[in-house]
Amino acid sequence: MAAFDISLEQIGQARQWALRHGLDVDFFVGDVTAIPFPSSTFDAVFVFCMIHHVQDWHRGLQELARVLKPGGAFLIEEILRTWSSWPEFEDGLADAGCDILEKGAILPRLFLTYLCTKHGA
Ligand SMILES: C[S@@+](CC[C@H](N)C(=O)[O-])C[C@H]1O[C@@H](n2cnc3c(N)ncnc32)[C@H](O)[C@@H]1O
Repeated sequence: MAAFDISLEQIGQARQWALRHGLDVDFFVGDVTAIPFPSSTFDAVFVFCMIHHVQDWHRGLQELARVLKPGGAFLIEEILRTWSSWPEFEDGLADAGCDILEKGAILPRLFLTYLCTKHGA
């Protein structure tokens, strides 16, 4: 399992948490717009409240989908901010090659979670 954030401080905290809970995770500092893994590496990708911080969020979604295996699971939790509407965000997921399987509201209209998969299985 691998996990990244662009902030060294966030990675430090996450590493401490994983150590305390006995989880074996390869943490690294990285940018979602240039993920240092070959295409189709992971069975599942999880993103929690990060992509709205990224100016080129379309590129971020494309990178996340690139490293996911076709047919893999992509869970993304987001807040309405950078994009003006959820349909705009959903278009970004579709452009990245992801099909939405389910979506759920954490706080209706403000916070949504999408469970997607990547085309081509
Ligand atoms: C609201 S915090 C969420 C942190 C964590 N995922 C969580 O759920 O607790 C947003 C995070 O996005 C990270 N971030 C911002 N731009 C990024 C980028 N281009 N690549 C990777 N992480 C980024 C920030 O460093 C920050 O830790």
